[in-house]
Amino acid sequence: MSIAANVKRITIHDIRQRKGGIPIAVLTGYTATMARLLDPLVDIILVGDSLGMVIYGMETTLGVTVDMMIHHGEAVVRASRRACIIIDMPFGSYQESPQTAFRTAARVMAMTGCAGVKLEGGDEMAETISFLVQRGIPVMGHVGLMPQSVHAFGGFRTQGRDEAAAETIVADAMAIAAAGVFSIVVEGVMESVGRRITERVHVPTIGVGASPACDGQVLVTEDMLGMFNEFQPRFVKQFAHLGMEAQKAFAAYVEEVRARTFPGHEHCFGMKKGN
Ligand code: KIV
Repeated sequence: MSIAANVKRITIHDIRQRKGGIPIAVLTGYTATMARLLDPLVDIILVGDSLGMVIYGMETTLGVTVDMMIHHGEAVVRASRRACIIIDMPFGSYQESPQTAFRTAARVMAMTGCAGVKLEGGDEMAETISFLVQRGIPVMGHVGLMPQSVHAFGGFRTQGRDEAAAETIVADAMAIAAAGVFSIVVEGVMESVGRRITERVHVPTIGVGASPACDGQVLVTEDMLGMFNEFQPRFVKQFAHLGMEAQKAFAAYVEEVRARTFPGHEHCFGMKKGN
């Protein structure tokens, strides 16, 4: 048996067990190329609907479709063998009713082979989450700043700024934890809110612009790689500057093409050195 065959995929059960333990490292992945790089290192690859903005240049995630999530999810599952793969349910594909949500989630899971789905919402989504979980669909929740509600929020703004708003978000997290989510993304909240949720729920919290106290952290991979040279939210740390590196490489390529120094004899078939 090959070594590759011995690699065991991280399961939903493994993630659940990490509450209060070694922090869970999550990054987004939308393509096979990125999935291959992420797979040996992170615990979860999240095929987030942020792909609408990152890959397709949309201004919000609202235009993302279920088919888009399935195409990217299939690529990521195919190119990975160790990380737990979770796929976002896009806007409009689950909010209408538990039955609609079940049909979408079942299709996403059957077509891609992912381990579970993620959906945004608090108390108002608890019934749907319980419906899915009781029918065998592992669900990751998402509270705080929920990008699919960007228009209702009046922009991408930090949530939970006053005590009443903070308590609502904590109550939302507790409601979806009770409904059966295996983990909760807490996005764009005051630090004390992320900490409070982590203390009060029995499932691991994954913070993004939340708190170091969360049971794990998630970032959009292209953000943390520094692939965008423009605006970055405060909660993003650039662990590399690949955008600048890529532009240096593009400039070198353009120069060599124009100077006819690329391709060289070593890149050609049947061309002798010095010709
Ligand atoms: O869509 C996404 O990538 C996300 C993460 C930022 C949590 O929801």
